[in-house]
Amino acid sequence: MNRSLTSAPWVVALALASLLLLALVPVRAQRQQSQAPRGPWMDQSLLPDQRADLVIAQMTLDEKISLVHGAGGFGESGPRSNGGAGMISGVPRLGLPDVQLADSAVGVRAAAERGRYATLLPSTLAEAATWDLNLAREYGALIGRELRDQQYNATLGGGVDLMREPRNGRNFEYHGEDPILAGKMVAQLIQGLREQKVIADTKHYAFNDQETGRNIGNVKLGRRVMRETDLLAFEIAVTEGQPGMVMCSYNKVNSDWACENSYLLNDVLKKTWGFKGFVLSDWGGTHSAAKAALAGLDNEEPGSRFFGDELKKAVESGVVPMVRLNDMVHRIVRSEFASGIVDDPPKGRVVDPFRGAETAQTIAENASVLLKNANNQLPLRATAVKSIAVIGAHADTSVLSGGGSAQVDPPGGGPSQFGGPPVWFPSSPLKAIRAQAPAAKVEFSDGADPATAASLAKASEVAIVFVNQPTSEGGDLPTLTLPDRQDQLVTAVAAANPRTIVVLETGGPAAMPWIGQVSAAIEIWYPGIRGAEALARILFGGVNPSAKLPVTFAKSDADLPHPKVPGIDLLPPPGAGRGVRGRMPDFNIDYTEGLKVGYKWFDAENKEPLFAFGYGLSYTTFAYSGLRAAMDSVSFTVRNTGRRAGAEIAQVYVGLPPAANEPPKRLVAWEKVSLDPGQSKTVTLRLEPKFLSIFNEQTDDWELPAGAYTFSVGGSSRQTPLSAAVNH
Ligand code: BGC
Repeated sequence: MNRSLTSAPWVVALALASLLLLALVPVRAQRQQSQAPRGPWMDQSLLPDQRADLVIAQMTLDEKISLVHGAGGFGESGPRSNGGAGMISGVPRLGLPDVQLADSAVGVRAAAERGRYATLLPSTLAEAATWDLNLAREYGALIGRELRDQQYNATLGGGVDLMREPRNGRNFEYHGEDPILAGKMVAQLIQGLREQKVIADTKHYAFNDQETGRNIGNVKLGRRVMRETDLLAFEIAVTEGQPGMVMCSYNKVNSDWACENSYLLNDVLKKTWGFKGFVLSDWGGTHSAAKAALAGLDNEEPGSRFFGDELKKAVESGVVPMVRLNDMVHRIVRSEFASGIVDDPPKGRVVDPFRGAETAQTIAENASVLLKNANNQLPLRATAVKSIAVIGAHADTSVLSGGGSAQVDPPGGGPSQFGGPPVWFPSSPLKAIRAQAPAAKVEFSDGADPATAASLAKASEVAIVFVNQPTSEGGDLPTLTLPDRQDQLVTAVAAANPRTIVVLETGGPAAMPWIGQVSAAIEIWYPGIRGAEALARILFGGVNPSAKLPVTFAKSDADLPHPKVPGIDLLPPPGAGRGVRGRMPDFNIDYTEGLKVGYKWFDAENKEPLFAFGYGLSYTTFAYSGLRAAMDSVSFTVRNTGRRAGAEIAQVYVGLPPAANEPPKRLVAWEKVSLDPGQSKTVTLRLEPKFLSIFNEQTDDWELPAGAYTFSVGGSSRQTPLSAAVNH
């Protein structure tokens, strides 16, 4: 029988169906256009602000109120909802579309509910590990495209809370511990989303740096600390990324809820940074009508408990002035015009899973951090290696993803549930390794019994052990120690085979008590839908790893600023119910480390990390020379001193004058330099004055203290072969 693809009947049917679809799409688009009202605000040559003013002048009070709150969440809002986390009703008579809000931190969520498909990207923490601004932009663009394909027009993503708490369950959907790296990367992600014409978002503003007690915790921090840490990341995200929305967070900041915190919303975000879009509350994060509206909240999500009738009454009675309501509406409508969703609404298309998978793989290949490689254990030589033991839960079939609202639905639906078990995506390390080494005997043990795993390891030339650390929104890890006694598994395998390679799939840092016993280790994070294929290419040298850690890995919990997650002991015991016994008391989150977030803590406290911020190995080596430093730029030369082509992420740190009272050093710039063997490049990096400055609470402004600035340059925060002092 002829089984050629082209003649299969289903292919013919598919082709006909596609033709039909193609024919229908323009008709639908035309119909939408012909219905569109032609008020002067539809004139695309006007500025978004002008268009917003024109259309607001036509609105009734009820129409205005309908825009400042959600119309129900998670598909509950009736036939107009597209199944996303929420929706803001449009005003059809004025041509304003419904805003369909979809969670999409690491790919579009809530796709499978309607039988759709979305690409699972590597976590955003992995994206941050690429330090590659172009990849961050591609990351955003992919999500933007798939949102529009599924007729969403707004993303709820762009998480950039700093990793103050390495056990935070949401670290995987943020961008690490450094405000400048995190801010710059997320700004590009936001740009990528905007290019695709969706309303982009950054969240959770601000200091939602842990899940424990997120709905009651009161974060206490001074203004200087705030502005130089998490808020600096948001400042870069907002000013460089220009998102249409900022989502305020659940927690309190200095005793006011973040969503009714006038300092955060009015003073800093809107006045100082000039944010022109709208602030929407995290889901259920609104706590009042008048107070919140006057403090700068523009939109309540997902419902109308406060910003419905109650806000309407407050406006009618003058407690909230009409100009403020108009400002709220202006900000929302302006974002609609500015994003392009009014003039060019998403038409809906079939998601291209192959294109998505390719992007996911490229990002994963650039995001995996080679942590240890004793005796150049890696890359493996496919033609030389005779037998490989692949060990660890799920390593035969799949890779881990992060949970909560950043959970991408598995293809075709499946066990994706908020607070449910971890979801493993079909990308098989075992298969991918077999494909790279077809002549080798590659066998699998799930590692449930360390002795069985060890005997397979003993019988094999090389053992590759996969360890994992599931994390999710809604809770933090009790410890950096890997769960399920995986440390014992690694130790047993390492004792049985001196060529043991550990692959980590984690949401953030993990402790590795066995690191001295294994010969290689590689951190692949939550690596996305092509995670296994990307890993296998690195293991066998098709890709030379280049990623660097965007977070510090501590040796143990005891070395962290807080040996336990703040407040974790106040959590009610499991099964305590919802009564008084089951309630967590109000509590303060005292981030006593202040400015010393991440590596700044380890530097200031003279603690040796397990792996330093900015660290990561390559299969080649690099040498640095020729530093020339000034307050506004640095230049230096990087040379590839090994035998393979590779890329080095060269980092510039600066130590401020002692009188500034800052942690020893901070990252101020970096560049990813690709080099052939023997090749060298001279890099010149411009420095932004703000990044060398401190925030002065008295003047409420940034300043460059006088004195000596120490510049250091190298391949990690703890390996900086070049340094120079500059007097200012
Ligand atoms: C999360 C947000 C999310 C929202 C909607 C909240 O619980 O904190 O990040 O966008 O739910 O799903």
